[in-house]
Amino acid sequence: MPHDSHGRSSADASAPGALLADYDVQDVIEKDRKHLWHHLFQHRILETRDPQVFVEGHGARVRDIHGKEYLDGASGGVWCVNVGHGRESIARVVYEQLKRLPYYAGVVGTVPAAQYASALAEWMPGLDHMFFANSGSEANEKAFKMVRQIAHLNGNRKSKVLYRDRDYHGTTIACLAASGQEERKEAYGPFPDGFSGFPHAMCYRCPFGKTYPDCDIECARALGDAIEEEGPETVGAVILEPITAGGGVIPPVDEYFSIIREICDEYDIILIVDEVVCGFGRTGTMFGFEHYDFVPDIVTMAKGMASSYAPISAAAVRGEVFDRFLADPDEKFHYFRDISTYGGCTSGFAAALENLRIIEEEDLIGNSRVMGAYLQDRLRELLDHDHVGDVRGKGLFAGVELVEDKATKAPVSEDVMTAVVGKAAEEGVLVGRTTRSIPGLNNTVTIAPPLIVTRADIDELVEAVKTGIEYGCREL
Ligand SMILES: Cc1ncc(COP(=O)(O)O)c(C=O)c1O
Repeated sequence: MPHDSHGRSSADASAPGALLADYDVQDVIEKDRKHLWHHLFQHRILETRDPQVFVEGHGARVRDIHGKEYLDGASGGVWCVNVGHGRESIARVVYEQLKRLPYYAGVVGTVPAAQYASALAEWMPGLDHMFFANSGSEANEKAFKMVRQIAHLNGNRKSKVLYRDRDYHGTTIACLAASGQEERKEAYGPFPDGFSGFPHAMCYRCPFGKTYPDCDIECARALGDAIEEEGPETVGAVILEPITAGGGVIPPVDEYFSIIREICDEYDIILIVDEVVCGFGRTGTMFGFEHYDFVPDIVTMAKGMASSYAPISAAAVRGEVFDRFLADPDEKFHYFRDISTYGGCTSGFAAALENLRIIEEEDLIGNSRVMGAYLQDRLRELLDHDHVGDVRGKGLFAGVELVEDKATKAPVSEDVMTAVVGKAAEEGVLVGRTTRSIPGLNNTVTIAPPLIVTRADIDELVEAVKTGIEYGCREL
């Protein structure tokens, strides 16, 4: 967007976004510095530099308030603008829906809620009921409440939820309790009872010191050990990301989830799969679990659902789960006693319906698969670099783990990671990194561009990451 000599934007007042067109750059920066509490951010940094402020985006590119353009290799920073920025058709359907009916509480139906629930069910193998909310955390909270209420309805103690090291399930206290990222949890305890962890599934740093395929997939079998340890009569569910995202981009090996499924069946345990990041094409399939041979009982989702044009999330459940809440209608506790006010906002359903139409019509899942394979190949070329220890991922979701020494796998410091990602941004490419999550192991660059990217975009992205790594690791 052009600026006049006073830093005032000069967008055409009739253009989309005109509402926000007339601003003064320094004024916005000062308002931000004084009043905006940025997420996951140490504000003392702003004593010596300006906050980063973004203004607009089109496709896979975003522009900051100074007019610098970036290739958005993080899809909005947290891997969620799957269909890319600036989609007028989403804005239009949301506008039309808001004019017609902005809201009605989820105790009743609305036209877009019913239409979206049905469209989503088409993509789900037998998960045919959708409970809607607003954020990924909330969707997971719903799943935990379902598990606890089912234990109550069944008159048993099977209410504990097991989670995997390195997985993240959200920001609320229960979701943090169910997350395997000790640094993220620090300072937020005490946590509620009923959540317990088991080992992660990353081959590069195998928790059992083994090497695939001669490992008997011990990381999956560890779930059985954890259930035995906790007491099978107390465990109601396990929650897993299909591919660990913020914990380092970790796709488990092919056999992993069929073993997990078998264990869940053996112990009568609900298998919750958290697709908040992997859902909606991110990994080259509609949902991450489709890479593996199993069907979950509950699938939670958010981010890519409406590509974050509007807040919406869901817990999709199998008929068997839904049916457990259908018992005697005279009993006062025999229905799911849960509501979120904003689970009834029609803008989210309208945006999600259009988002789904775009994904299908433009075959963005196919593009994620094809461009994703190219991205993974190009990134694997970086393994020649002295400080690239591992490259992981599926589809348009990749992680590059940086180490000081390939033999010892000693991780690089967070300062090195800051330099790597900062240099890539200077080169005009935004990528992410694991931060303050896994004690001592926040050393993975994360890459997740919008699903519309081209080969040329990927070449640009990989070159910038390479430059960032060379710069960040130059003194090691
Ligand atoms: C796998 C996973 N689950 C849940 C969440 C929480 O989602 P939200 O921030 O929308 O609450 C996140 C957020 O990044 C996530 O990565």
